Parts: sequence; structure tokens; C-alpha cells
Amino acid sequence: MATTPSQGSLKITDTRTSKQFEIPIENDTIKAIDLRQIKVKDDDFGMMTYDPAFMNTASCKSKITFIDGEKGILLYRGYPIDQLAEKCSYLEVAFLILNGELPTKSQLEEWTEHVRLHTYVHENVKRLMEGFRYDAHPMGIFVSTLAALSTFYPEARKVLNPEIRQKQIWRLIGKVPTIAAFAYRHSLGMPYVYPDNDLSYTENFLSMMYRVAEPKYKPNPVLTRALEVLYILHADHEQNCSANAMRSIGSAQSDPYCSAAGAAAALYGPLHGGANEQVLLMLDEIGSKDKIPGFVKEVKEGKGRLMGFGHRVYKNYDPRAKIIKKMAYDVFEVTGKDPKLDIALELERIALEDEYFVKRKLYPNVDFYSGLIYKAMKFPVEMFPVLFAIPRMSGWLAQWQELLTDPDQKIARPRQVYLGHSHRDLKR
Ligand code: CMC
Repeated sequence: MATTPSQGSLKITDTRTSKQFEIPIENDTIKAIDLRQIKVKDDDFGMMTYDPAFMNTASCKSKITFIDGEKGILLYRGYPIDQLAEKCSYLEVAFLILNGELPTKSQLEEWTEHVRLHTYVHENVKRLMEGFRYDAHPMGIFVSTLAALSTFYPEARKVLNPEIRQKQIWRLIGKVPTIAAFAYRHSLGMPYVYPDNDLSYTENFLSMMYRVAEPKYKPNPVLTRALEVLYILHADHEQNCSANAMRSIGSAQSDPYCSAAGAAAALYGPLHGGANEQVLLMLDEIGSKDKIPGFVKEVKEGKGRLMGFGHRVYKNYDPRAKIIKKMAYDVFEVTGKDPKLDIALELERIALEDEYFVKRKLYPNVDFYSGLIYKAMKFPVEMFPVLFAIPRMSGWLAQWQELLTDPDQKIARPRQVYLGHSHRDLKR
């Protein structure tokens, strides 16, 4: 398990100088800064590690999420993801991720009430959103509006004050569904629907998305539960690209709105949270089952990627994809089956038997089936990354809190290997 420390040391011989160094090992890790003592001359800068894309560098110690990519295990605060998805609500899981333990009954009531009290946005936020073009991508609106919230809550800059931090956490978790739904309504030119605080977190979101003239929106319980499970599965995923952005910006002590806007911007990319949108586009492009072998051949020739497959950490079936695949059948019972599901199932079958994917340990990831469910629930593809961002807010905020309370952390500032010109004078 990740928290088991191991004693010992690493002996290094520098063949340039024949000097020996002993580097202590803690938690199966050496500190990169301990390599700095390895020098050829006294005035050398010292040895660094070169690790583009952080392939083998731990940037923090964390107690939030554990992943064993080889075995396909995902735990939030020690609890397996499948147990949480089966037995908990999203707000319970968000509380767990943020506070380390599941809430008691009264803690849950209090937490839910705080989140509920912060679902409304200032009318100027609404007006700001109205300024976007009718065809603006909702994720662009979402990212910009998150950053804009910073101007409404100037006290949020006091990031070292735990009470002020807590208030921004309620605000951000409460407001993200409202901003997401407003961004969607904007794209349709439909009036924004204000939060209905009689509804649960996910019901309220569906109401703000889809309510038209009915006095009370009544979401289908199967679809509400499916959304709740999707939120749980997306709540955190340790040091991924957007969590790293949140921590990196947060390390400069920027306020949480600007940090979260940066994290959401990272999530927008097609290699991260934008992948489920790409999966549907890919399934559309394939069009029918008989075209799958030709498509797979092109992927193997390097003419594109099989979207929704592969993961930096999982070298096994993504445990989230397993849960989503099973849930797809419940959702399709209510909505009717999308013919793209058959293409996806066949594509998965063919890829998992193909040596190219087997050798590289490429399995379906969380995005492979989530898009099909979102589409069945009538979310347009442009909303997919926004749907990912709503629950991931709890993970980003937990990572941000952990960063700010960790005495080991400082402003993130990587080194580089400079390979450009050495000093040269301007000849003019
Ligand atoms: N289709 C075809 N080949 C692939 C794929 C794929 N989806 N993913 C990786 N490969 C190949 C890649 O070409 C490389 O082959 P070779 O060794 O011959 O050069 C090998 O597998 C290793 O790939 P990599 O790019 O070095 O792996 P990575 O860890 O840098 O990338 C990834 C991880 C998720 C960016 C990548 O697998 C990918 O682009 N997948 C498709 C996009 C996707 O589904 N992203 C969602 C990720 S899960 C949600 C999230 O956490 O955000």
C-alpha cells in the first residue's frame, strides 16, 4: 500500500569522479534534492533528474486517492470505488474526499445544507455569461466563469485561513452545477433556470438543465442515480493533469476560483476530460460494426488513437469503466438503446484481442462508455467535459487543501535542462 514506508538507502557511484553517494530511501522514493550533492566540481549546480510529463516523479505526499494501475484498483480515502458507487451519494463522497472520513448523519445534513445555500450565483455572473456568443463551447464559458467568481469573493485570496477556505469550498461545490447548466441553456438561447433547493444535488442540476414550463421538474430516478454514480466515479483521480494544474497554480497562493479555472482548462483537453467527447465522434466516424477492423488497422498504423483506451496509470481495465459499462444497460432500459453501444462493445472486443493493444496494456478507460450514457441522457457532446468538471471540483479542492496544509510544499517551480546557446554578445 502506498503509505508503507521502507527504510534503506541507494548507493550511487558517479563514474565521472568515482565518488560514492548514499541517498536515503523513504516510502520507496528518493528525494530529487538529495541528488544535488552529486557534482564534478564544487561550483557545479549538481545532479538533477529529467522527467518530462512527470512519468516517474511524485510531486507530493497525499492521503486522498490510491490507484494501483497494474491491478486496476481505485480507492478514495481507502474505500474501493465500487463500494462507494453502490452505497453512497455524491455529496457523501465529496465530503469523504475533502475531510478524510465519511460524514455522520448530522455532518451530512450540515454539509448538504451549506452546499445548497451556495447554489445561487450573483446576477452579474448571469449577465457575464449572457455576453458569450450563442455558439460558445460550454467548457470555455465554464472555465471563464469560474475565474470570474474570483472577482466576486475577494476574501478568497486569504488561502491560508481555514475558515475562509471552507467557505469557498461550499461555494464552488454549490455553484458549479448552476454555472454548468447556465452554460448549456445559453447555447440553446433558453432562459436560465434558477436552483430549486428542494431537490438533491444531481436532481437540481437536471432541473436547471432541462426544466421548461412545468412548475416542478421530476427527474427519472434511474437517470438521477446514474448521474450520481458518474459523479462519484469522477470525483478524484490523484495527480492527473488537472489536479496537477490545481496544485501548481494553488502553490502560488492564487485564490481557489482562479486555480480551479486553470484545472478546468487542463481538463478540457482531448487527452484528459475531453476524451469522452472524442469517443462519440470516433464512434460516429466508424459508423457501423463492419468498419471497425479498418479503423483499428489505421490506429495501429499511427493514423489516430483509439479514444477512450489507454491510461498513464492503469495498465489493466479501468475500474471506473467496469462500473459505467454495467450501468449503461440500466440507463438504456429507460432511454432506449443507442446503436453506438454495439459498435463500442465490438470495438472493445476486437481491441482487447489485438496484439497491438495487448502488448501496450491498453484497456478501456473511464471515458469509453461514459459518453454513451451522457448522450442517452440527452446531454450534448459539448457538455461532456463540463459534466466531468462538476464532480471533479471536490477532488481539485481536496488536492488544493492538502497542498496548502503540507509543510513540505512550496511554489511549484520545475527545473529545466538548458540546451540553447551559451552566452553570446549582440553584434550590432
Ligand atoms: N490508441 C492507440 N495507441 C495508443 C493509445 C490509444 N488510445 N494510447 C496509447 N497508445 C500507444 C502509444 O502510441 C504508444 O505506443 P508506442 O509505444 O508504439 O509508441 C503506447 O501506447 C504508450 O502510449 P503513451 O502515449 O506513451 O501513453 P501515455 O501514458 O503518455 O498516454 C493517454 C496516456 C491516456 C494520453 C493515451 O493512452 C491516450 O491518448 N488515450 C486516448 C485518449 C483518452 O482516452 N484519454 C482519456 C484518459 S482517462 C481520463 C482521464 O484521466 O483524464
